[in-house]
Amino acid sequence: MKEQLEKIKEEALGQIESSEALERLNEIRVAYLGKKGELTSVLKGMKNVAPEDRPKVGQMVNEVRELIETKLEETRMSLARKAREAQMKAEVIDVTLPARKANAGHRHPNTIALEELERIFVGMGYEVVEGPEIEYDEYNFTKLNIPEGHPAKDEQDTFYINKEIVLRTQTSPVQARTMEKGRLPIRMISPGRVFRSDEVDATHSPSFHQVEGLVIDKNITFADLKGTLAEFARELFGEDTKVKFRPHHFPFTEPSAEMDVSCFKCGGKGCRFCKGTGWIEILGCGMVHPHVFEMCGIDPETYTGFAFGVGLERIALLKYEIDDMRLLYENDIRFLRQF
Ligand code: DAH
Repeated sequence: MKEQLEKIKEEALGQIESSEALERLNEIRVAYLGKKGELTSVLKGMKNVAPEDRPKVGQMVNEVRELIETKLEETRMSLARKAREAQMKAEVIDVTLPARKANAGHRHPNTIALEELERIFVGMGYEVVEGPEIEYDEYNFTKLNIPEGHPAKDEQDTFYINKEIVLRTQTSPVQARTMEKGRLPIRMISPGRVFRSDEVDATHSPSFHQVEGLVIDKNITFADLKGTLAEFARELFGEDTKVKFRPHHFPFTEPSAEMDVSCFKCGGKGCRFCKGTGWIEILGCGMVHPHVFEMCGIDPETYTGFAFGVGLERIALLKYEIDDMRLLYENDIRFLRQF
């Protein structure tokens, strides 16, 4: 009996010592101390022990049980501690590492140019108005005095949704929409996307942006147009900027003009930037045509006004000296970050 107990003790302690996982300890507990465990079966064999030896054997069994229990508990604690240490090591955070940067993107040159433009005109008391990109032929052409058969109406130039609906080719239809509302006087700019059936190259894109301008009140003259646009040019390109108006034709203005600004690179002497002329074309403008007034419900005998249209990409390309329009549409963050 004594040897049997000795053997159980040695085996159990040995197994506990070589355990590497907490679950294994439980198995050992069941195998030795459980209902059908080895030590329990020794107790069950007590009936074969001489009555006078029973207390002695009972004491020995208890000693072995205690020993095994103590060893189990010790090992359980040390395994648990090791597991915790390993976990802490695995989860360690190196606070000296540089933080991961949030990738915030960058404002697009078009957006920067537009915000600059809006700042200038809002500063002069203009309102910013928006209009639809999908537009009635009537607003895009007819109400702007652009007749049937005008080359701009050709399918080569205009995207038609159907006979009556187009992707607007200009922001000018917002003029007609604003006039029709009948709230006078008007002082507005209207930025937005426009569409033309053009092949992509360094200066063309089937989709680009314009900013329309419209001023209507009593006694508005060409002098107001000149003064306003000259001030705009000075604010955008610098104090010393000069402007020049060349006669031009737009169906919805009469008279019409194109405005050039003195080259802000060479100051007008002539350089590669202005192709040696000293001037850079910037926008189209003119006095609102009486036909347009009539079609939009405003009396041309009482009111006069001027309008202008600027290509936003053109401004962005000039101001930031970008030589290929396609760069604006690639959205390469390395490109955008430069502005
Ligand atoms: N809509 C014209 C274009 O796309 C630009 C323009 C010229 C707008 C003269 C105007 C204007 O308002 O008065 O070429």
